[in-house]
This record gives sequence, C-alpha cells and structure tokens, in this order.
Amino acid sequence: MKKFVAPSILSADFNNLGKDIEMLNNSMADYIHFDVMDGVFVPNISFGIPVIEHVNKISKKPLDVHLMIVKPDKFIVPFKNAGASIITVHFETCQHLHRTIHFIKELGIKASVCLNPHTPVELLADIIADLDMVLLMSVNPGFGGQKFIENTYKKVNQLRNLIDGKNSECLIEVDGGVNFETGKKLYEAGANVLVAGSFVFNSEDPKTTISQLKEL
Ligand code: DX5
Ligand code: ZN
Repeated sequence: MKKFVAPSILSADFNNLGKDIEMLNNSMADYIHFDVMDGVFVPNISFGIPVIEHVNKISKKPLDVHLMIVKPDKFIVPFKNAGASIITVHFETCQHLHRTIHFIKELGIKASVCLNPHTPVELLADIIADLDMVLLMSVNPGFGGQKFIENTYKKVNQLRNLIDGKNSECLIEVDGGVNFETGKKLYEAGANVLVAGSFVFNSEDPKTTISQLKEL
C-alpha cells in the first residue's frame, strides 16, 4: 500500500510561512495540503488564491488543494492557474459531479472528491473509476485540531473495497485529527494519504513528525 503524508498549512505559522514551506520542502512530505474555506460551506474562512500563488513560487512539493467552498466550479481554473496539482471538491457542493471531475482532469491536473463524515462512501460507486483520489473527512470541516471521528476507519475500509473492486488506482486521503495513533490505524484500514495540520505544526520537530507519519 502506497503511503503518503500531506501536511496542512492551516496550522502553519502565517507570520513565517516561507520558513514553514522551506521546512516542508526539506521534509518527507509528499504534498502540501491547503484547506480553502469560504465561511459558507464551512463556518470558517481560511485563505485563497494569493496564498497558493505565493507558496507555489517556492514549493518543491505538489499542491493538494481542498476546496471547502460552495460553487467550486467557479474557482477550478483560478486554483489550477495558482499552482494546484490536485483539486478536491466536496460531494456535498456539486450538482453535476461527473462534469466537474472531468473538467478538472481536462485541465491536466488530478481530480478528487471529498466526503463529509455523514456522507456514505456508496454514493461514489458510479464515479470512482473517474477519480484520482477520494478525501474522507475525519472531522466536521472548518477547523484544525478537532477530535477524530472513529467511524472513519469503517469508511476507509468500505472505500478500499470499492476502489479495489473497480480495479481503480484511486488514492484514499483522510483529513482531520490525524496523529501517530489514528494515522497507523488509517494506513492499516487502507488509506494512502494522511493530512495532518496541528499534529505536525504543533509538534517539537515538525520535520521528524512528518517522517514518523510516513513510517507508521
Ligand atoms: C478541517 C480541516 C482540518 C485540517 C487538518 O476543515 O481540513 O482537518 O486539514 O486539521 P488537523 O490535522 O489539525 O486536525
Ligand atoms: Zn483538508
């Protein structure tokens, strides 16, 4: 099973963001995860295009952009142009998900769908073959540092079975409350990509924490 780590800059030091990106560039991180929030789909506002444009100028890692926004179709091209390598839209915000996913892929970048904790995996059965990644929220989106929702392990298992059943190469990413304990169980359940924000950036040595997450 391929194992990846995608630190979320939601918990980075925005007074010294360049320093944190340099740390990530020199770490075992596979992606940099950006939690874009609009204050409508989720009860918080984080950051947008300018931050991703500036990080893209210095990042040596692919940018994994998680759109927690309504009407994501309006912003796919701007985020692609800002440097996104992967764009994740929420299932709950897309009326024509198949069209949205293919629009992202036609831009030459990876397409991913995110499910909130209450949204069943089975809803992806007819789109899974088109996806590069599925992001499962293990907290209710909007804030870092929340408690991991235990039902996520079952959803990872279900999604792993769905993906394997379709002979798909689709990755499983999990976001929220990831630490050494939950991360190890998530990999064991079949997840590939761990998003970690507070656990990484609040640790004594973020670079080492990232390496240790990779080796779980
Ligand atoms: C929730 C955010 C968080 C963030 C990671 O909307 O998506 O899940 O990425 O948060 P931590 O790792 O601090 O729980
Ligand atoms: Zn995220």
